[in-house]
Amino acid sequence: MTTKISRREWLIGGTALAGGLLLANSGTAQSLTVDGYTPTPQNPIRFSSNENPYGISKAARIAMNNSYDVAHLYGGSGRRELIQLLANNEGISPENILMTSGSSEILHTLALITGIEGGSILAPDPTFDNNFMKYAELMEINKIRVPVKSGDMSIDLDAMRAAMTDDVRIIYIVNPNNPTPTILHGKELREFCLEMSKRCYVFVDEAYYEYVTDPNYETMIPLAVENENIIVTRTASKIHGFAGVRVGFGFGTTAMLKKVKDKLTGSVSTVSVHGALASYKDIETQQFVLRKNAESLDIIYKMCEKHGMRYIKSNSNFTYIETGIEAREFGTRLRKYGVQVGRPFEPFTKWCRISTSKPEDTRYLVECYEKEFT
Ligand SMILES: Cc1ncc(COP(=O)(O)O)c(C=O)c1O
Repeated sequence: MTTKISRREWLIGGTALAGGLLLANSGTAQSLTVDGYTPTPQNPIRFSSNENPYGISKAARIAMNNSYDVAHLYGGSGRRELIQLLANNEGISPENILMTSGSSEILHTLALITGIEGGSILAPDPTFDNNFMKYAELMEINKIRVPVKSGDMSIDLDAMRAAMTDDVRIIYIVNPNNPTPTILHGKELREFCLEMSKRCYVFVDEAYYEYVTDPNYETMIPLAVENENIIVTRTASKIHGFAGVRVGFGFGTTAMLKKVKDKLTGSVSTVSVHGALASYKDIETQQFVLRKNAESLDIIYKMCEKHGMRYIKSNSNFTYIETGIEAREFGTRLRKYGVQVGRPFEPFTKWCRISTSKPEDTRYLVECYEKEFT
């Protein structure tokens, strides 16, 4: 065995070490499973942003590292292979897939298109208010908001039908929804999309698709590839842990995707493409993440049941619980322990969105909750 290391290895090791120190200092450990980490208000465990607590898989890290050999080239490599992989998974043609720098790029572009073409947005309330909705606000696009059902908090398609006007240019449906992790039944949503797409665009955001366990759920991708006005997005940010790497996808007809592509301003780096290619092939890690997600959800459900709090059974990597305390106060009091929970979502200010973290960390959240509130 030799102890000699090459200059390249030394450089990589050196960079990794420096990176490690930097991470520890800038507060990105965020798990009790990381040696030397202590949750603090400044460097809390994140139950707040629907991220993957396990991060990027080992296979993806290796692929990303190896991709530097071709990363200096415009166009790079791996794009066609990645799109083909997704096309095979969905049983569609590669021309019906558009890859972007996170799905937000498509969310922004769809708001831009709506602003240019004119008309209103029809969306449930609450739903994912960043990106598409926020960009639309900047463009001063009128929004018609339809409350979710008061009972199970699912999106109310009949009420959305009733709220439809001739001015609506696009309907935004997040399925599973966010912050309420409910799903729409496949048949119901399919009928809604087909009916409404005769009058406007229908945008179905499937960011949390991979986490769905409800057998009644259906992806709208098959509909989007055959119907001019329907578009679906997915992201590698969630189950693949790519929130900071930035890879997302749009699914639709070639005409619809061209309309979006023509207005994009970003592109996907070769390093991200190679990471995603390895990650989408790495089924075992995805299954591991799902198992751990279910374990963490279960810990939160049990806490809610023990303390008589309502919660929404999740089809995502977060759940929504009725704490009975103003969300801002709830968040501030937990922050003292180094626990960061979701921001408030109007109008349910006494509910809190809790993203899953590792089960070890979720048990700590329960401890903190019980210490502070019971
Ligand atoms: C419903 C929904 N859509 C889109 C996004 C943004 O995803 P991306 O990281 O692909 O831009 C998020 C992020 O949390 C989300 O919750």
